[in-house]
Amino acid sequence: MPEDKRLRTFGRTKSRTLSDRQQGLVDDLLPQIAIPAAGPVEPAKLIPGKSAHVLEIGFGGGEHLTGQAARHADAGYLGVEPFINGVAKALTQIDAAGLDNVRLYEGDARDVMERMPDQCLDRIYLLFPDPWPKARHAKRRFVQDETAAEFVRLLKPGGSLRVATDVKAYANHALSILRRTSGLEWQATQASDWRHPPQDHLTTRYETKNLGDCAPVFFDFLRVCPCSCALGA
Ligand SMILES: C[S@@+](CC[C@H](N)C(=O)[O-])C[C@H]1O[C@@H](n2cnc3c(N)ncnc32)[C@H](O)[C@@H]1O
Repeated sequence: MPEDKRLRTFGRTKSRTLSDRQQGLVDDLLPQIAIPAAGPVEPAKLIPGKSAHVLEIGFGGGEHLTGQAARHADAGYLGVEPFINGVAKALTQIDAAGLDNVRLYEGDARDVMERMPDQCLDRIYLLFPDPWPKARHAKRRFVQDETAAEFVRLLKPGGSLRVATDVKAYANHALSILRRTSGLEWQATQASDWRHPPQDHLTTRYETKNLGDCAPVFFDFLRVCPCSCALGA
């Protein structure tokens, strides 16, 4: 969809002035690890030789993205975030940890997703997306039928999607859309499955602020084949 026809899903893209070190990393390191601003985005070509490729949408300060990348050197991580101060923080962590398996894009994740080929990702994270709690702003939430269909298109059969939020309205909104999306299968069998952080979850500073109106919930979905064949089972 053309950018001007889409509703904006994020708030500010800049807050305080970057420190000299952060500005230096934006000028020098970001161009080396940037996801291209135009043309196809092929994770396996951008980060070759990896056994899995992961997209994190709206990585905020980058703690989860870089923490997972440090834990899983065998996987390639693509992080997308329009907030330059968050991008700068992630760059600081990438530089400090010497990570070579992360690529970043400063901007809207939808712009990157639409340039990716089918079935190119093993995992997608959407953690604590901007909630837009008022009903009249619901169309600004990142989870919509269109983005859910994109998750299905981009994930390999057997791949997974994790959505987390601490806002009741977002949890209900996301669940109702994702559960009706053909090709996605909610993995929860009991309340404790969504009420407790999954074992592999890494908590971010944003999450610990508890800004929402409910305890965090974590929804894990599996990309299954809609025809119920063995793929993704
Ligand atoms: C509430 S913050 C949470 C950050 C992080 N995921 C965490 O859990 O700490 C949501 C983030 O999503 C980003 N965001 C919102 N819409 C986005 C979009 N269309 N593409 C990429 N990032 C987006 C915002 O800029 C913001 O940094």
